[in-house]
Amino acid sequence: MEYKQQIKSKARVANHGEVFTSKKIVNDMLDLVKQETERIESRFLEPACGNGNFLAEILERKLAVVKSKYGKSESEYKKYAFVAITSIYGVELLQDNADECRQRLFDIFCRETLKVSRIISDFRKKEFLEAVWYVLTKNILCGNALTLHKVDANALDTDEPIIFAEWNFTFGDFVKRRDYRLDVLLKEHAEANSLDASMSLFDDENSYENWDIDPITGKFIPKPLQEFKPIEYWRVQENG
Ligand SMILES: C[S@@+](CC[C@H](N)C(=O)[O-])C[C@H]1O[C@@H](n2cnc3c(N)ncnc32)[C@H](O)[C@@H]1O
Repeated sequence: MEYKQQIKSKARVANHGEVFTSKKIVNDMLDLVKQETERIESRFLEPACGNGNFLAEILERKLAVVKSKYGKSESEYKKYAFVAITSIYGVELLQDNADECRQRLFDIFCRETLKVSRIISDFRKKEFLEAVWYVLTKNILCGNALTLHKVDANALDTDEPIIFAEWNFTFGDFVKRRDYRLDVLLKEHAEANSLDASMSLFDDENSYENWDIDPITGKFIPKPLQEFKPIEYWRVQENG
């Protein structure tokens, strides 16, 4: 699918400030952090990701690196391509944009993976692509980036906080997933960087239960809401 139009309707521009960024500007902006866009594991979160103009380009750049470094080995290629897809996160208010974004990243992933010809014949291809799709359903979420709550199909806030999964390879092909509340992650970041000195770690929505103490530094660190047993990366959907 082509994504060249910068607006879908005047009403959407007026209601949601929806104007999509052109490919040239996306690339110029990403070039400002070029090194990070080409680091396979560096995590990106776009809080108003639209239909994925920035995230799609980041994925293309990362997969190009995966291909040049690991394209000769099927197992290495797949593992690092999985690292690339799990490092990309988005929040978008409007359901259709979030759906398009997810599908677009998946299409890029499939297209690039099929270019590495040995992958086509792999007997685990189906599970692998199902795992990739599952990751996208956890990483690209429909939510309000201002309130940090999930939204319903009418773009109205629900009571549920936005929760993101962190995916980390532990040993070999095994991946561990930990789920965190985005408001807790951002609060820790804001406080660590003194962005708002008036912020208190513990308010109504951020009680002690969201935090752990780092045994080494003694500082508060975000506590996962849920932790999953490590599992082979092509089977992460079985933990869902
Ligand atoms: C200016 S567009 C940019 C889209 C995309 N980042 C791009 O550059 O092509 C802003 C996007 O933010 C979404 N949006 C508006 N308010 C939002 C909110 N509170 N939380 C999350 N997304 C929001 C809109 O639906 C729209 O897709």
